Amino acid sequence: MSVTVRVPAKVNVQLAVGGARPDGFHDLANVFLAVGLYDEVTAAPADGLTVTCAGPDAHQVPLDHSNLAARAALALAERHGRTADVHLHIAKDIPVAGGMAGGSADAAGALLACDALWGTGASRAELLDICAELGSDVPFSLVGGAALGTGRGELLTPLEVGGAFHWVFALADGGLSTPAVYREFDRLWEGRDVPVPEASPALVDALRTGDAAALAATVTNDLQPAALSLFPSLRATLAAGEAGGALAALVSGSGPTTAFLAKDAESAHSLADALRASGTCRAARVAASPAPGATLL
Ligand code: C5P
Repeated sequence: MSVTVRVPAKVNVQLAVGGARPDGFHDLANVFLAVGLYDEVTAAPADGLTVTCAGPDAHQVPLDHSNLAARAALALAERHGRTADVHLHIAKDIPVAGGMAGGSADAAGALLACDALWGTGASRAELLDICAELGSDVPFSLVGGAALGTGRGELLTPLEVGGAFHWVFALADGGLSTPAVYREFDRLWEGRDVPVPEASPALVDALRTGDAAALAATVTNDLQPAALSLFPSLRATLAAGEAGGALAALVSGSGPTTAFLAKDAESAHSLADALRASGTCRAARVAASPAPGATLL
């Protein structure tokens, strides 16, 4: 018997970043929106803990116990006083090291899959607690939809979404390390006071009413200057998306994936074609939001 869980990617429609805290993390006002690009994590009985991965970017995924999915299985097993005997297979469709929380998705998926496979019966609160230990974005991968993440991003308040938003994601050649992007953020702000991060009421309203033009007018990403500083060619991708008719163009999370909001599903497809033709990205993917969180199939 095996168990499969489907988990979405995310885009940050607002990523307000405060100054570095004593623990090295940054306080955030992080508005997460789950998008319809998914990884699937399958947990099957095994002797010991093993991980395999399939998909176009699979060769970039570590298969040892540093994999966030393996760490999720180990964390759940440890809490329930059992051994992490499981084979985890990741069918990977979310870009790797792309700023779309692919690793976090695998962690949330593995946690839910192992809980079901082992019959541990962990409560939602316990699962969220383990998610927060594993990484700042992991709790959101479990819950999906849309949410405001405060603290380092792990403290979630669900947000209402009044309609579908249509996106194009342009995949870059290569990845960006999240810690490196935060370090660059710190460098760019050196000697200045970083404002306290706050969620934008206008943006929360745009989500609630499902108004794409209003959302486009309010999206922001405070990590974007740092990501562009480390990956300058993303400017050309953003410009190509704007020329292709995007309502908004921004770096997704810490990058280097770029996100483009389209007026509707049809515009998203023509925008994706324009981005592919521009030669400024490795691939362009269309996806709609919101998407549900980690779901047992
Ligand atoms: O929590 P997670 O493991 O995803 O964070 C990866 C890295 O990103 C952290 O080690 C830290 O350098 C940076 N980070 C941060 N502030 C946050 C979230 C992440 O500085 N709120």
